[in-house]
Amino acid sequence: MNDKIIRVLLLEDNAGDARLMGELLKESTTTQFDLVHVERLTDALIKLTKEVFDVVIIDLTVPDSSGFETFLKIRSLSEDVPIIVLTGFSEDELAEKTLQEGAQDYLVKGQVSNSSLQRAIKFSIERQKKKLSETPVHTSKKTTQAPVPEKKGKILGFIGAKGGVGTSTVVINAGIILAKERHKVTAVELMPHYGSFSQLLGHMPGDNLKSLLDFDLKSIDEGLLHHKLFNHPTGLKVLFSPQSSHEIKEIDIEHAKTIINCLKDIADYTLIDFPNYPSNTTKESILKCDSLTLISDAEPVSLASGKVMLDLISLWGFNRSHINAIIVNRVISPQPVKSSEIKSQLGCEVLGIVPTATLACTIAQKSGEPIAQSLLDNNFVDQLTQITHKLCGTPTSIKVF
Ligand SMILES: Nc1ncnc2c1ncn2[C@@H]1O[C@H](COP(=O)(O)OP(=O)(O)OP(=O)(O)O)[C@@H](O)[C@H]1O
Ligand SMILES: [Mg+2]
Repeated sequence: MNDKIIRVLLLEDNAGDARLMGELLKESTTTQFDLVHVERLTDALIKLTKEVFDVVIIDLTVPDSSGFETFLKIRSLSEDVPIIVLTGFSEDELAEKTLQEGAQDYLVKGQVSNSSLQRAIKFSIERQKKKLSETPVHTSKKTTQAPVPEKKGKILGFIGAKGGVGTSTVVINAGIILAKERHKVTAVELMPHYGSFSQLLGHMPGDNLKSLLDFDLKSIDEGLLHHKLFNHPTGLKVLFSPQSSHEIKEIDIEHAKTIINCLKDIADYTLIDFPNYPSNTTKESILKCDSLTLISDAEPVSLASGKVMLDLISLWGFNRSHINAIIVNRVISPQPVKSSEIKSQLGCEVLGIVPTATLACTIAQKSGEPIAQSLLDNNFVDQLTQITHKLCGTPTSIKVF
């Protein structure tokens, strides 16, 4: 079976038709489909803002919208995702109109077979890819188009100046921002103890880093790692740290290095959340990173602690010009420190300041949907998007949501 799972969003208010679609897709022996079904246009639009799909299949007549209007609204949120329209027997004209306006295909209800559905999905994805590759980036209103993939992915390390400064929040939200832009992204908690990814994502992982450490080095490869990764609905893949006391185990240097090498083959960007205390494993792992980002509060203790941390990492032999910092304003400071002052204090570039988002953080943690997934705070998402683009060297001027 093909490795790639094709995510399909189906807008269909008829439960019987939706069930039939699900059954037809399940019959495939070559491709795995992940079908997400909604009955109302509003729900489809919410899904499209929060999750990444490979194709959208829409019935034009649903309880809260009908006809061409349904197509236009879906298209406005999924310009880069192929749309397949479901029509009735006598709706050829409407079907043609949607094709002229960008739909990739249409299927006549009642005449859909297993093979015609799968063919339509696969060809639509291919045609859309071709169309996007022929469209200059600057003419696209929104871009969710990935750049030409690199041979090996980039490893981006993140470390807190001290505990509780917002490191994991930055890693998860930056990962989601990149994943929603259709980059391949993995977020990893490379720490021997419990980390907060599971809380931030509202997901209790069935598997985690600990079970990888039990394998001998020769058995750890891309395939094994894929099995250990959690697939978040936004497209972000996640490797969690141990979740219970009996799983806590030191990470040995060779395992850490082998895992990082495999991660380079899996994703365009691997974001590693490191523990904020020094160890030989953290040292050797950081030395394998393409960049290292310090996360800090703007207050004096955090900055002083961050400076010591960066000096140590430089002493380890990590190129200082590949070190940068992100300031997280977890609370509104009565005396905000300027980026330029922080830069001279830390001795590295400051990529930006993440604004205070107390309420959004609380709601995000309660719901298990990070801010960048739910778009709870536009200022937070906008700033972090710009910072993430600076870090990855991707364009900053293109709005992605
Ligand atoms: N921009 C922000 N505004 C307000 N609160 C924030 C912001 N970013 C993070 N927080 C809050 O700060 C707390 C710590 O965040 P987080 O767990 O990401 O930090 P951390 O540095 O990874 O912590 P640890 O050292 O425990 O791993 C959380 O309650 C989080 O919701
Ligand atoms: Mg953390």
